[in-house]
Amino acid sequence: MTQHKKILLNAFDMNSVGHINHGLWTHPRDQSHRFDELSYWTDLAKTLEAGLFDGLFIADITGVYDVYQNNIELTLKESIQLPSHDPSTLVSAMAAVTQHLGFGITVNLSYESPYQFARRFASLDHLTQGRIGWNIVTGYLDSAERLIGQQGLKDHDLRYEQAEEFVELCYKFWEGSWENDAVLKDKTQRIFTDPKKVHPIQHQGRFYQSQGVFQVSPSPQRTPVLFQAGASPKGLSFATHHAEGIFIGGDQPEKIKKQVDQIRALAQAQGRNPEDIKIFVGITVVTAETDQLAQDKLAEYQAYASPEAGLAHYSSSVGIDLSKFSDDEAIPYQKTNSIASVNNKFKEQSITVNDLKAQHSLGGRYPLIVGSGTTVAEKLIQLIDETGIDGFNLTRTVAPESHHDFIRWVIPELQQRGRYKTAYEHGTLRHKLIQHGDHLAVEHPVNHFRYQTSSHETESSLNTDVTLQQDEHQKIQTQHSEKQFA
Ligand SMILES: Cc1cc2nc3c(=O)[nH]c(=O)nc-3n(C[C@H](O)[C@H](O)[C@H](O)COP(=O)(O)O)c2cc1C
Repeated sequence: MTQHKKILLNAFDMNSVGHINHGLWTHPRDQSHRFDELSYWTDLAKTLEAGLFDGLFIADITGVYDVYQNNIELTLKESIQLPSHDPSTLVSAMAAVTQHLGFGITVNLSYESPYQFARRFASLDHLTQGRIGWNIVTGYLDSAERLIGQQGLKDHDLRYEQAEEFVELCYKFWEGSWENDAVLKDKTQRIFTDPKKVHPIQHQGRFYQSQGVFQVSPSPQRTPVLFQAGASPKGLSFATHHAEGIFIGGDQPEKIKKQVDQIRALAQAQGRNPEDIKIFVGITVVTAETDQLAQDKLAEYQAYASPEAGLAHYSSSVGIDLSKFSDDEAIPYQKTNSIASVNNKFKEQSITVNDLKAQHSLGGRYPLIVGSGTTVAEKLIQLIDETGIDGFNLTRTVAPESHHDFIRWVIPELQQRGRYKTAYEHGTLRHKLIQHGDHLAVEHPVNHFRYQTSSHETESSLNTDVTLQQDEHQKIQTQHSEKQFA
């Protein structure tokens, strides 16, 4: 059902100064230079929760943007995602000052140990009471490989093969080691955890090996909400197999709709409910009391933006030094190992540096919507209804002013049209987003890695590659929902 659904909304940010809209850190009212202060983030979390945002989505890169002019000079001067700090360090503090806001945290699995990563995120799922999500990325920067001490970026498709195994091993840790009711906390009997209900997992794979019990007890969601943004054939296949939230790019409704239809068809073909995948489009909004005031604000912001810094970011996204081309020269397609879907644009269309600079008038490449609250709300609703997407990843411009503006001018207009919640539901991030309880559905591939509990079982089992009986799983889901609404 695409008509009249409520719009989902994530603030899109990064633990850095410049994220998407580069150059705006120089605006006198911008506060993003304070990104290394905890209060900057706790204030933001409170603001977003006051605006009933579903989540704060924090992007991350391992590595630096050194492709443009083959150095990091502009990257450092304009603070183009450098410095950038670890996003997961922000979560506990923000969770402490909020009750409902979700946290979508980007982690590049290529440089993580699955065990350590799974442990960190399961711990965060506990501390946030089930509000953590993971944006699964595989990286696209050669500079990261040098920093980590590897030989060079792995082939694009091979990265996804590694991702597949990484994720499966995480499923074993999160859902295959501890049974749901393993933790008793029974002081009288002196049994904290029932030893019969904790099982070692086994994994002998192409990229990873592991054997033993997971160290973290079952967290509210067990597996964090899974986000992904694969757009290449391999990436899309991965995303529709695993992800619950998919980010897509695009500014033309027809193209967005095509991607949405493709994602839902692929999900269905893989045995998943296509509506269990929430699709988000990245946007930038400049809004004010009237259309004219919003245009004035845009002009004011543009005076501080840096299209060239946007170009430097773009260079690293596609793995091509765009400084080498004259302004009106069509940039030729060349195969790289970076973000295939962005790079393919050079194959599909004739694009010059001038075109890119115009697109980056606010320092970033996301579609820009400018206008009063009414204008913006109507455009967002139209985009949702025409394309079948579920919501938006809203970039920041002048921080935190742009979030305050959006909450002040746009949210009430969406609410008046019945297209945005007026209060949060209770429950985990998964429950709020997907509306099917706290855990992943039985059709999801995680189910192959859940520990099977059966009536005849008396001893610990090493076999975690078995499917939890459907009725058993539904029973657990129901118990969870009952607990939630009790
Ligand atoms: C909204 C959005 C956010 C993304 N955030 C990140 C990020 O934080 N870190 C990262 O390394 N890649 C990020 N990416 C890139 C994706 O992980 C992925 O590489 C890209 O969408 C291209 O997909 P492909 O590799 O299948 O071509 C993002 C992509 C989109 C559309």
